[in-house]
Amino acid sequence: MEKTFPQCGKHAARGDWLPLLRATGADLAALYARADAVRREHCGNAVPIRAIVEFSNVCANDCLYCGIRASNPVPTRYRMPPDDVVSAARQIAAQGTAGTIVLQGGETPGDGDEIAALLRRIKAEVPGLAITLSVGNRPRDVYARWKDAGMDRYLLRFETSDAALFARLHPACTLAERLQCLRDLRDLGVQTGGGFMIGLPGETVETLADNVLLCREYDFDMIGIGPYVPNPDTPLGDQPNAYAGDPDMFFRAIAVLRLANPDAHIPATTAFDAVFPDGRDLALQRGANVFMPNATPGPLRKNYQLYPGKPCIDEDAADCSRCVQARLRALGRPVAQGPSHSLKRPSTGSIT
Ligand code: 5AD
Ligand code: FES
Repeated sequence: MEKTFPQCGKHAARGDWLPLLRATGADLAALYARADAVRREHCGNAVPIRAIVEFSNVCANDCLYCGIRASNPVPTRYRMPPDDVVSAARQIAAQGTAGTIVLQGGETPGDGDEIAALLRRIKAEVPGLAITLSVGNRPRDVYARWKDAGMDRYLLRFETSDAALFARLHPACTLAERLQCLRDLRDLGVQTGGGFMIGLPGETVETLADNVLLCREYDFDMIGIGPYVPNPDTPLGDQPNAYAGDPDMFFRAIAVLRLANPDAHIPATTAFDAVFPDGRDLALQRGANVFMPNATPGPLRKNYQLYPGKPCIDEDAADCSRCVQARLRALGRPVAQGPSHSLKRPSTGSIT
């Protein structure tokens, strides 16, 4: 059985991953077991917790699948005042489970200085908390300014490796521009996270294999992937997930991603819970090693529904913190201590 798995993800090609992305029955169980073993060997059993604060749902873009796209009138738009973001950061640090705050928001060009000031405040007022930022495509000099202000990591999914599909879904940018941003971030020494959605309408299993290969090629520090969930408030809303009849595909994807990227931080992303009641727990047993609970203030959550069925909308930050601890206890996985920087480039963290 062992010899059916590519020994080193680095040198594998599309054809090596396709049979695994089609595995069923005993082969599928063996794939999951192997991915879990590779995760344990390279990342250990402790789970780094990254608390997400969705600090603004204002977005200038119109991505065809996304619930906070500019032309969707449904969400009430908000920007959290800096004081509220800093107090969310304090609360995260006080709870003591998450070593990282992830500031996620829409893409609003022109807010570079405000975000730099926010990063400086969090570093000064909540020392020891690592900061991940995720606010879309920006010019290299803006990323550089944010790094100087204390940004440790950045998340920017490339969404799909198929350039034509990317162009159809993103009126404002090309795949080449997105990938340039990812190279800029890496060159600046920022721990960089890429990733994609699983099952975009029009993708094939070959696209999925190429998505995994692109992650390998960029050697990302973090890789976030999750099922595409049609959102009826978007133009793509009536197009089902490409794997709607085969939900195992979401877990094959995460298992193969782990085999191809043994030492990447791979979160069990929120969208897994939208597709299966215990989807994030299953992902943690099939290749994922990181958990990212929602730490957005409760009342704002209903306005950050990128897709329907997003969990934790009626909860608050304390609920999710308690929930993640219970879930990890049930899985027998301890909470990792400290910021849990990149396993590939541990020295690049701006805090130790
Ligand atoms: N279904 C699943 N994931 C989505 N995202 C945005 N819209 C959807 C959707 N309808 C994901 C994108 C983005 C991340 C913040 O959320 O991959 O990068
Ligand atoms: Fe939010 Fe379980 S993670 S309630």
